[in-house]
Amino acid sequence: MRMVDLIEKKRDGYELTKEEIIFIIENYTNKIIPDYQMSSLLMAIYFKGMTTEESSALTEAMLNSGDVIDLSVVHGIKVDKHSTGGVGDKTTLVLGPLVASCGAKVAKLSGRGLGHTGGTLDKLESIEGLSIDIEIEDFVKQVNEIGIAVAGQTANLTPADKLLYALRDVTATVPSIPLIASSIMSKKLASGSDVIVLDVKIGEGAFMKTIEDARKLSKVMVGIGNSFGKKVVAFITDMSQPLGYAVGNKLEVLEAINTLKGDGPEDLTELCNEIGAYMVYAGGIVSTLEEAKKLVDEKVTSGAALDKQLEFIKAQGGILGDLDDFIHVKEIIEVKAEADGYISDIDALTIGVAAMKLGAGRETKEDEIDPDVGIVLNKKVGDKVSKGDTLAILYNNKDDIESIIKEVIGAFIITNEVVKKKSIIFEIITE
Ligand code: URA
Repeated sequence: MRMVDLIEKKRDGYELTKEEIIFIIENYTNKIIPDYQMSSLLMAIYFKGMTTEESSALTEAMLNSGDVIDLSVVHGIKVDKHSTGGVGDKTTLVLGPLVASCGAKVAKLSGRGLGHTGGTLDKLESIEGLSIDIEIEDFVKQVNEIGIAVAGQTANLTPADKLLYALRDVTATVPSIPLIASSIMSKKLASGSDVIVLDVKIGEGAFMKTIEDARKLSKVMVGIGNSFGKKVVAFITDMSQPLGYAVGNKLEVLEAINTLKGDGPEDLTELCNEIGAYMVYAGGIVSTLEEAKKLVDEKVTSGAALDKQLEFIKAQGGILGDLDDFIHVKEIIEVKAEADGYISDIDALTIGVAAMKLGAGRETKEDEIDPDVGIVLNKKVGDKVSKGDTLAILYNNKDDIESIIKEVIGAFIITNEVVKKKSIIFEIITE
């Protein structure tokens, strides 16, 4: 087999066979196929797409390029959730303990954030003492004992994806549905859960900009998961504005805790309750979705979901202490509205980048995160404002942040017309 022939085949719109895809991934991972040929193939895939069979074969080849976590020693059905990334997305911090308190098993491998979207690990590590470096035996033991563990990806999972993702990043081939689908699903399948719930975000701050593309991506991912015998469902959700109010590591931990107390933002609460119910139902804890919704509700009201969160934090070495004394910054700055009206848009990307510039995220992998800083919105899309009202609060430790303040003000669009609030969930794709 010659790589040049396979590039030509895809360039001309023909379907690659499973053997050909295995040949490509094995030889690229082993550094036999050079980057220039792989780049050319990626661009051909970007333009010509892939069939479901090709996408599944690509996923399988990437999955087999590294270790696969064996969760068979965890008792019960393992549930996992993946978000395509967003600003203020702290759903894992809420959903993990919520569904574990309902009896589902959550064995979650998470990543760090890069750029304007924060990573679950950075948020968890903002809690004093909390460690995400857990050996696989301890990870499994903790899941069996308390129903939940969250760890960093230390194992050699999907090395082909790491290489390919870096190449896609510099060859303008990231936004290709089969490439995104196989990248996400290979990692999810390598993590070993039985049920996978995908949260596919749409909006300026997200990979998918339209509902049509989000639907296509969801269907491909659900199809791939099903071909591996996994239960997969995709929620298509709004990321046109940040999720909840808080953006920044400790700020998001606090918001997650409030949500588990039943006192969270409306959009985050709705999203976590709906996805949580689905995880509990698909995880076989109850036999209908209605019962799952009731159970999720009960666990929040009774305080069991919050207790599970505290148990989980303690099990991983975290010390929460007095929450009123959790965040320490040099200054707190209120950003005010410059006009009367209704908020029609809060640009998630701008808020995410502004929070990153304050130090809540990383521009490059080497950057250090400041866990205390960030932005808390005071208004959301649809809210009425008067000139001088606080739009957002900046938690800051830096010296000159005039330009960041301007960016945050610019992220809020205020109009004269009444703006209807959008639902957070647009569609649920099950097949
Ligand atoms: N997230 C991933 O893990 N891979 C992609 O290709 C895009 C988003």
